[in-house]
Formats: sequence, C-alpha cells, structure tokens
Amino acid sequence: MECFKVIGGNKLNGKINVSGAKNAILPVMAASILTENECKISNVPTLSDVRNMVKMVEFSGALTELDIDNEFLKITANNLTNGEVPYELSSKLRASFLFAGPLLARMGKVKICMPGGCAIGSRPIDLHLKGLDALGAKIRKGWGFIEASAPRGLKGGEIYLDFPSVGATENLLMAACLAKGETIIKNAAAEPEIMELARFLKKMGAKIYGDGTDTVIIEGVKSLSGCDFTMMPDRIEAGTFMTAVAVAGGDVEICNVIPSHLDPVTAKLRESGVEIKELKNSIRVISAGKIRALDIKTLPYPGFPTDMQAQMTALMTQAGGTSIITETIFENRFLHIGELTRMGAHIKVQGRTAIVEGKTRLTGATVHATDLRAGAALIVASLVAEGETIIKEIEHIERGYTNLENKLTNIGVNIVRTQISADFQ
Ligand code: EPZ
Repeated sequence: MECFKVIGGNKLNGKINVSGAKNAILPVMAASILTENECKISNVPTLSDVRNMVKMVEFSGALTELDIDNEFLKITANNLTNGEVPYELSSKLRASFLFAGPLLARMGKVKICMPGGCAIGSRPIDLHLKGLDALGAKIRKGWGFIEASAPRGLKGGEIYLDFPSVGATENLLMAACLAKGETIIKNAAAEPEIMELARFLKKMGAKIYGDGTDTVIIEGVKSLSGCDFTMMPDRIEAGTFMTAVAVAGGDVEICNVIPSHLDPVTAKLRESGVEIKELKNSIRVISAGKIRALDIKTLPYPGFPTDMQAQMTALMTQAGGTSIITETIFENRFLHIGELTRMGAHIKVQGRTAIVEGKTRLTGATVHATDLRAGAALIVASLVAEGETIIKEIEHIERGYTNLENKLTNIGVNIVRTQISADFQ
C-alpha cells in the first residue's frame, strides 16, 4: 500500500503551482455530453476522479481523449448509446450523479445508481430529484438506482432548493439548458464552481442568467455546440497550501489562483495573524508560524468553505488559545479529528462543533486518510509534528491533489511517497 512519509519541522519557501479545479472539471465533463460536437478542455487536473469520470463519459457512448501530460481532455458525444451509469462506475464518486441531468436532457431517459453516502455524510439526492421532477421528468426509485424519463423532452419550471446544494444546482442547470421554456432555480448554490459550469455552458450557447447568485434563470435552447475551454484553478488546493505555509512558517507564493475565490480563507488566515499578499493571479503567504485562535463556521459560498474545515482544524492545533470550529454543511465531517488526536492534538467534538485547544505539541505517528480533506489535514499537521508521520490510504488524498509530493517538496517539505510493508497494513 502506498503512503506518504513526512518529516516535520521545515520552513517553506519558494513557489507552488495550483492545478485545475476538481469540483469544476467534474460537472464540466458531465455537461460536455449535452452537445454532439467536440469539447476541448485545458488545465484538466489529472486526478483519479477525472479518470473515473472519463470512464463514465465513455460508457455513455461518447469519445474521449485524455492527454495526461498536457492536462488536456477532448470529449465528443456525437453518438450517445447508453443512458445508464452502472454501479461499478457510479459508486466510485459522488459526482457520477451529475450525469443524471445531461443524460435525461440528451437521451430522454437515464438509469443511474444512487451515489450513496461516504465518510462525511449520507449525501442524499432528494433535491436533485425534486428539481428533475419540476422539469417534467418521471422518476422511479429502484433497488439502489434511479430511473428518470422525459420522452417528450424536459420543460422549464420553477424550483426552490431547500438547501443551496452545489450538485443539485449543477444537475438542474445542465438539464434546464435543453428544456423547453424558462427555468428558475431559487436558493441556488453560488460557489465559483457553479459559475465555472455556467461559463462552460454559455460558451456552448446556453442562455443562463444570475449564475453566482441565489436565483438562476435558464432559457432552454434546442441544441448546444462544442467549445474550447480552460479550467479555473482549484481554490481548495490553493487554500490547503495556504494553511500549510501558515502552520509551518515561511514565505511561499501560491501561483495560478484567482485570489477572490479565496476571500473567506484569506480573511480567516489574516485574522489569525498570517500575512497574505494578493497578487494578480497568485497569493503570497508569509508566516512566522505564530497563529492566533479563531472561531470558524462553514457556510455555503461566500461563507467559509466546508472543504477547508479539516485543514483549518489542523492549523488551529498550533494557535495560541482555544478555537471553535462549527461544520454546518455535512453531518460527519470531523473524521480527521481522531487521527489528529493520535498525533497529540487536544480536540473535543460536541455535535457539529469542534473545540480545538491551541498550541499543542504534535508528534509524528502512523495515521490514515479517511476522506480527501481529512487526508489534507493530516499533511498540514505532519509539517509541524516532531519526527516522522506515515499517512496511509493516500488514494483518498489523490482524488483531489495532483502531484502533491513533488509540489510540496519544491517548497521545502520533507515528504516522500513510499510503500508500507504488509505487517503495517
Ligand atoms: C460538492 O458536493 C463538492 N463536491 C464537495 O466537495 C463540497 O464539500 C460540497 O459541494 C459543498 O460545497 C463536488 O463538487 C464533486 P451539496 P455536493 O449538494 O454537491 C445536502 C471535496 O472535498 N443535500 O452542496 O455533494 C447534503 O447532504 C468535496 O472536494 C441534500 O440534503 O454538496 C449536504 O449536507 C466533498 N439533498 C449539503 O446538502 C440533496 O439532494 C451540501 O451538499 C443534495 C445535498
């Protein structure tokens, strides 16, 4: 089993590059099957999630070309033959459910396995289904799968999302593009990834207004064309690197970012005493490793992102004082705390709140990544832990971070990828 071995204590210096956004490329790949023309996408992060999403696109009958070295992906869905996403593929990642809207819009029917829950929560899809129903789809729930059909095509409708769900907003945005008439999505998610998907769809000829606000209006069109598109940088990867520099100390320029996407993270790090300089498309983080305690509450954008909660929890173990961290988005997103505790952290969990005692001495240990961002939190913690930390199950981390050990090594982290012997497994 592969793992990361990290020896903490180094200050970090230099420049680090951020890759294309994982949570934007996945919906964009689903959207690419809305047209029979060719979509050419650049700055594609070569993540395991992307490779699994390519398999699902191919399973629908579309042609793909993934050029990993050049981070380039071509998708041509001129002959969709299969409106079904099998369990073997859909169970690999939650984003598989994002094919529901596009396949329904393009083929008039879809059969897709429920994505199921994961470590961080039950991950229901009720809002996706409520929206597709409002667009005229007939939905049948089977044993672990959903069947939806709209043989005469989808029709525009008004949808109120009980929660500004990112995935539900994305699914309905894509489905509505080819529906007859106007669709209004109220209480829509406004994350940068939603705006990126809308930017892609508009380049294909979709008529979308209000994306990035809580009310999105879509005027259905008969068909969409292909396009050339370059993915935006990953704000969560950038934020993760920011917390790494904050905790280890040093002076690092994080390149290829859109600074405004990091506003909530920048604000909280500045509040904790870290110096942040925002440049045109990079952010410079200067830290002496001295951190003030913070209160953090995760919220839908533009609130503090839930995907940065675990990394900030790790950072707050080094803050002077006690921090209160409240996770309002997912019901079970504190799995990193057990592992941080094994490294010496003092954190008490009460429901959706974690009380983090600051300035605790962390020591290296053998820990395992329970999910993507929990794994990232362990990397952050390992940078200041005394001695060696072995992080197992790094496949979770590699779902969201490309080429991580090389990127971190280039700014001074003592990290290697290695095999862990059988008796450790
Ligand atoms: C997306 O997940 C991201 N994943 C997540 O990133 C991110 O944490 C999340 O948005 C919130 O920002 C991708 O984009 C691939 P949601 P998604 O639907 O779409 C409830 C990472 O680490 N809900 O906004 O699944 C749900 O239970 C990952 O990169 C319903 O109740 O998130 C949750 O409590 C993790 N019914 C809340 O909404 C529904 O039908 C947020 O879920 C849908 C969601």
